[in-house]
Amino acid sequence: MTAPGPTSLEARALDALRRAYAPYSKFRVGAAVQMSGETFDGANVENASYGLAICAERTAVFAAVIAGAHRLEAIAVCTEASPPSSPCGACRQVLLEFAPDPAAVTVIAINPRGERRTWTLAALIPDGFSGRELP
Ligand code: THU
Repeated sequence: MTAPGPTSLEARALDALRRAYAPYSKFRVGAAVQMSGETFDGANVENASYGLAICAERTAVFAAVIAGAHRLEAIAVCTEASPPSSPCGACRQVLLEFAPDPAAVTVIAINPRGERRTWTLAALIPDGFSGRELP
């Protein structure tokens, strides 16, 4: 028996990692989101003014939203970390914004060595701020 290969979402995240712009941290991140049935890629993009860096997860989600896809179904994130690194808190909050059912959203973290971790979004951001409290 061989281990199962990467899903297409994982393959897209791995490919996106190669397009990361991370000359400062050298921590390249690729992401692929499935939103409203379509897949969108993202990668982290850094800046000489360090605080302007944006994470891979958010570039992927924003690409989806700009294309009109608002319903988050799954996300794969690829880093070179071992074990694979999970989305930061800011990205978890952005993912939650577009998740009608956080318990039904699969979050997959992988690395090029084939290691994999999975969660639901609900597990990564329990009792998150959804905006329902807003006036
Ligand atoms: N980064 C991501 O792209 N996603 C995360 O969830 C965590 C961090 C990026 C931001 C920055 O370019 C580099 O990784 C180091 O923090």
